[in-house]
Amino acid sequence: MNFKLDHILLCYQDLIIIVAYFQTDIIIAKGMIEMDIYGEFAPTLTAILNELEQRLQSLNQLQADHHQPKLYEHLIGRVKTPDSMAEKCQRKNYPVTTESALERCHDAIGLRLVCNFIDDIPRCLHQLHEADWCQIVKEKDYINNAKPNGYRSYHVIAKVTMPYKDYEGHKPGQFYVEFQLRTIAMDSWASLEHEMKYKHNIKNPERISKELKRCADQLASCDVQMQTIRHLINEEN
Ligand code: GTP
Ligand code: MG
Repeated sequence: MNFKLDHILLCYQDLIIIVAYFQTDIIIAKGMIEMDIYGEFAPTLTAILNELEQRLQSLNQLQADHHQPKLYEHLIGRVKTPDSMAEKCQRKNYPVTTESALERCHDAIGLRLVCNFIDDIPRCLHQLHEADWCQIVKEKDYINNAKPNGYRSYHVIAKVTMPYKDYEGHKPGQFYVEFQLRTIAMDSWASLEHEMKYKHNIKNPERISKELKRCADQLASCDVQMQTIRHLINEEN
């Protein structure tokens, strides 16, 4: 039964692509290919991302108003590209459908909160736990339990309540979001490591991995030192 439904959906997508290709030009056709896994929800996901960015910026502003340090230094948000979401569904053996993209995968919307200091991470986390629009469903602490390659970050999967119709037809609706909380040092390391993953002509990958791990540990130690300096400065004032 499920197989039949997926098959029909796939055919339907193919039809849209072909029609678009003949009607106008290849650029529009490509745009439509990219739209399809999120279907009618594509604009909603972008709107939710914008709304979340605004809510988090307000939380940061509130800290400033109370003469408290920033919760985070900057925010990076993205809606996972439809191609990348389709690839993820295939990798996880889920049907390539809007339902899988929104209900089975939880990172269609992703927000990274990049913090100055390690102690800012639990402060951000506290705000997410407290927010009435945010229900946390899963947390992964890759800071106290760094990955073997040296990756450090705190991951939260949450369901956010937003004034849009969700997949189940409820409005306000609930939508999955992945939050990643990390320091600037952890973030620059993750960007570098991510870049390395896609370079396939590296001559000595073991050496690179070892150096990356060493670098991750040094950065973690710098994060602790920076935090200590901040405490010392605060004690003096
Ligand atoms: P998927 O990878 O999305 O299927 O989910 P998962 O359950 O494996 O989640 P996990 O929390 O391990 O990773 C989710 C995201 O965290 C990834 O998409 C990356 O953005 C980031 N991430 C996790 N591990 C690493 C890593 O080793 N290096 C880098 N650079 N990023 C990582
Ligand atoms: Mg993963």
